[in-house]
Amino acid sequence: MPLQWSPSLAIGVPEIDRQHQQLFSQVNELLSAMASGQGRERLLPLLEFLGRYATQHFGTEERYMSQYSYPAAAAHKQQHEAFVQAFGHLAAEAKAQGASTDLTLKVQRQVVDWLQSHVAGTDRSLGAYLRAKMG
Ligand SMILES: [Fe+2]
Repeated sequence: MPLQWSPSLAIGVPEIDRQHQQLFSQVNELLSAMASGQGRERLLPLLEFLGRYATQHFGTEERYMSQYSYPAAAAHKQQHEAFVQAFGHLAAEAKAQGASTDLTLKVQRQVVDWLQSHVAGTDRSLGAYLRAKMG
């Protein structure tokens, strides 16, 4: 199942919302590359880009958190770190073995499901806080 962007996922901070949409579209590209059985030569650059983009994006959110003294920053950052770590394992597995059913399932669970619930829950709370602070 691809990631579906909808206006209800917007957290109300334009820079973050744009990055979320970009992240969703990168993940969907990865899913379709895996679904069409594309080899490592296509998979690895996609994973590499996605890993870099996600890290940068988390940096953006964390910059807002510290700028506006977000009280739940530590727990939020911990979720980002867990994702980066899980993603690193996936990328290493892809590098070693290429696309597989097992890898696809892991991407679905650890990337797609994670992002969906993180954006809809954890990031939404951050957005509500930032909107109140930013006026
Ligand atoms: Fe986040």
